[in-house]
Amino acid sequence: MGYHALYEAWKQDPEGFWLDAAKAIDWVEPPKKALFDRGADMYEWYADAQVNGCYNAVDRHVENGRADQFAIIHDSPITGTKQKITFAELQTRVAKLAGALQAQGVTKGDRVIIYMPMVPEALDAMLACARIGAVHSVVFGGFAANELAVRIDDCTPKAILAASCGLEPGRVVAYKPLLDGAIEMARHKPEVCLILQREQHLCDLTPGRDLDWAEVCDAATPAGCVPVAGNHPAYILYTSGTTGAPKGVVRHTAGHLVALNWTMKNIYNVDPGDVFWAASDVGWVVGHSYICYGPLVHGNTTVVFEGKPIGTPDAGTFWRIIAEHNVRSFFTAPTAIRAVRREDPEGDFIRKYDLSCLRALYLAGERADPDTIIWAQEKLGKPVYDHWWQTETGFTIAGNPAGLEALPVKIGSPTVPMPGYDVQILDEAGQPQKPGALGAIAIRLPLPPGTLPTLWNAEDRFRKSYMTTFPGYYETGDAGMMDEDGYLYIMARTDDVINVAGHRLSTGAMEEVLAGHPDVAECAVVGVGDALKGQAPIGFVCLSKGVNRPHAEIAAECVKRIRDQIGPVAAFKQALVVDRLPKTRSGKILRATMVKIADNQDFKMPATIDDPAILDEIRTALQTIGYAQG
Ligand code: COA
Ligand code: AMP
Repeated sequence: MGYHALYEAWKQDPEGFWLDAAKAIDWVEPPKKALFDRGADMYEWYADAQVNGCYNAVDRHVENGRADQFAIIHDSPITGTKQKITFAELQTRVAKLAGALQAQGVTKGDRVIIYMPMVPEALDAMLACARIGAVHSVVFGGFAANELAVRIDDCTPKAILAASCGLEPGRVVAYKPLLDGAIEMARHKPEVCLILQREQHLCDLTPGRDLDWAEVCDAATPAGCVPVAGNHPAYILYTSGTTGAPKGVVRHTAGHLVALNWTMKNIYNVDPGDVFWAASDVGWVVGHSYICYGPLVHGNTTVVFEGKPIGTPDAGTFWRIIAEHNVRSFFTAPTAIRAVRREDPEGDFIRKYDLSCLRALYLAGERADPDTIIWAQEKLGKPVYDHWWQTETGFTIAGNPAGLEALPVKIGSPTVPMPGYDVQILDEAGQPQKPGALGAIAIRLPLPPGTLPTLWNAEDRFRKSYMTTFPGYYETGDAGMMDEDGYLYIMARTDDVINVAGHRLSTGAMEEVLAGHPDVAECAVVGVGDALKGQAPIGFVCLSKGVNRPHAEIAAECVKRIRDQIGPVAAFKQALVVDRLPKTRSGKILRATMVKIADNQDFKMPATIDDPAILDEIRTALQTIGYAQG
């Protein structure tokens, strides 16, 4: 069956489609019914089933002839080490860690925070939680202690699993001070922390709270797989919203197993046994879906990469890993390809490796600019598939179903909606738009299995964030259009979320941090165009009356504040002190106009602007740091 026939089949019988897809999962108690309408825009999938996520990702492969197949290949150019772990070995590791957690009193439904770099133990940790029905919440290593504290208070973990350090080029990121700082700041205190000591940087353990990971695993009794209901939360993953408080996206167990498993063949075109690689981080949704669960559930070998696209040691790292480990499908963010292209414009490194194993490159996480796609297509000689999705959905909303039927690529479009998603372009009144017309991108409810059923502890926020603007639809927060052939084009966010190096960040959160500076009276943070990272945040601050310290000093303090309170990942390097911010007469800051000025784009003078002269002041300030040159 080709794409159009399959999409139509799904539309005719969505529940039948997803019950059929569910047959590829091993159930303790199979679902009798697919969809459960809980009213008020709340839906759940496979709620009557019993299942275990870890069993599907690990144990069933050991039982079905894949015991000796590699489950994980850890390739760490930053430490110069490689490690290969079979499914049988993974089962032992995970069962031991799960047993250690059980011995510490962690049981079904308890939350566990995971704060880990890209080491195999990060996957062990996720899978160990899944094994005993604990709900994990992975926090990206590039976040500061304050962000970790916010998550500790929101999901109140019984345990935290962390490593002694992460490794960034040229610096060791000691995790323990961040962890201690976060626990100190948080109102909620975890009962126990398991610390993985890495030889690159050992840390002291806090008596009475911290335990040595290796020691407790050695002593542990392996735990079995605990069945959970299909609608049991597998994990909570925090993502940026409009305010400083991150949104805790909840993922239910059964839906994510079924949906991810379906995507591995239909979208990523891999068969069980193939090597699949997503060069992301376990702290992001790509890491959850396509470093850990998707490939393992489907019986693929997953590559865990600890390094960067360039500099570890060079722009050939991606291609070396693909050739060396026989990677079939490779997934990364456009920013990573831009970084490689900048270092190796002629693709000399690409030619050094035999990439005949690779079928296609998949890009997501941010807009894939046509230049990058064309460069990669030409230099690799392989299809490049852009696909569009979000932390909230957990898997592709629109993509090219290459394993089912590779559709013609239209550069600039992530291709077509996947079964499960009835994507509509709506005008402000919520009316569907004609092909070619711009509008808000919304998805008719219900969303498919594997997508968010709610936000952790925040059902009201869930409805307000996603369900109220367009009744009957999920509001994606992206704007774009669909062409006559049903190809989707993603143009921009409709909210204050920006995307920096494929990392989703909130300008609102950064503004909250800047506003906390004692000398700052008012501020705005906007995402301006950046040739490497897609977008880069720039802060504009107005000082309180009477403050006459050097502006450079205050700007440097603003930069430091964001690094300290949000983390290096915010990549906030520029703060400009200005006298006034451009506003409408009703006081709304004209952020979009500021972005256009920075990016040298034409703009219409907003009719409601209070004082147009302020825009010139903004332009002058931007010119001092190399923007608004046009
Ligand atoms: N732990 C601690 N710090 C981290 C970190 C982590 N896991 N990840 C990034 N950081 C730090 C970086 O070291 C950098 O610090 P610096 O300001 O001291 O230089 C800062 O956060 C910003 O990081 P980043 O925006 O990633 O920039 P970079 O210059 O280090 O690297 C790229 C640029 C393009 C090579 C890099 O962004 C990249 O590989 N991106 C791929 C994106 C990706 O995988 N996204 C996942 C979604 S699909
Ligand atoms: P995240 O939740 O971090 O995956 O970020 C999701 C957001 O990133 C989306 O809402 C889009 O704004 C953007 N995004 C992700 N993939 C793409 C893509 N292929 N094209 C354009 N934007 C994308």
